[in-house]
Amino acid sequence: MTEKKSEKEEEEKKLTDVPGIGPGIATKLEAAGVYDLMGLAVMSPSALSEMAGIGEAVARKAIQSARKMMNLGFMDASEFAKKRSDVLNITTGSNNLNNLLGGKGIETKAITEAYGSFGSGKTQLALTLAVNTQLPKEKGGAEGKTVYIDTEGTFRPERIKQIAEGLGANAEKVMKNILVARAFNSDHQILLIDRINEMIREGEPIKLLIIDSLTAHFRAEFSGRGQLADRQQKLNRYLHSLMKLAEQHNIAIFVTNQVMANPAVMFGDPTTAIGGHILGHASTYRLYLRRGKAGSRVAKLIDSPNLPENEAQFFLTEKGIKDEEI
Ligand code: GTP
Ligand code: MG
Repeated sequence: MTEKKSEKEEEEKKLTDVPGIGPGIATKLEAAGVYDLMGLAVMSPSALSEMAGIGEAVARKAIQSARKMMNLGFMDASEFAKKRSDVLNITTGSNNLNNLLGGKGIETKAITEAYGSFGSGKTQLALTLAVNTQLPKEKGGAEGKTVYIDTEGTFRPERIKQIAEGLGANAEKVMKNILVARAFNSDHQILLIDRINEMIREGEPIKLLIIDSLTAHFRAEFSGRGQLADRQQKLNRYLHSLMKLAEQHNIAIFVTNQVMANPAVMFGDPTTAIGGHILGHASTYRLYLRRGKAGSRVAKLIDSPNLPENEAQFFLTEKGIKDEEI
């Protein structure tokens, strides 16, 4: 009850309610994609200082105030350790990729985002994880079921079957433990979270939620320039509820995301993930996938708070994601 109330209060607070953020700065922030307290709370003082044209000390204070107003409280080390102690990992099927993610694959209580262009392996990774979640813990699974939200109609049960058979598992059983829902628009996609909460209450041992793709509907529905703010706000709220779901029920969340050409990039790879830094901050781990040499794929870990920026090579095989071509 109290939680509901504070959530509502949080939604009603605006950027200009933060001491040090006047309407002028708020407009600049909004133009740069920061629409609410959460967006502000997760910024670094230097980024805010640059974006808003204010001193770093003022920026730091504003960020601290936003965090306080949102109750993004600190916890002591023992509380933190307790919260982390039940985190589970799900193997990607590739040791290289697992190592990139800290050793054991993706994590519960975290959002892992994979972005990359078409054919880069986002869906194949999702399908592999959907199967691997069911493995015993000592084999890299979480002994749970997967919910697969398919927004693009690219879920392929026959691929699940092949991947399961590759592990020597009973394919029929594996398929029964993957609950698939097609989301027809962004509202539907958001509503499905309620249904997942319900299923968990009913006792379904869900350990992985996949959303393939997280952003496609949002992108299609809010395509005009003037709609960017609305889109980001809606996406931000959605990401909040995903994170809450992950933390409350010890679930891993794996989302895919498209890229768009970024004409501002003159050197290197001119692609950026959809969703801007709202999604960047909400994702605990971001993987950028691309084609590599000899049919391989390369994953790069972007902006991880606790792991070095690094790359890993893997292959898309009939049996799912692997280190080697088979
Ligand atoms: P979009 O959804 O279009 O943005 O792309 P994506 O990143 O989801 O690509 P996806 O994961 O669907 O990768 C497609 C690629 O996976 C194909 O081009 C193949 O290279 C590979 N692939 C898919 N199925 C198989 C298979 O059964 N065997 C092998 N060896 N490769 C496969
Ligand atoms: Mg795909």
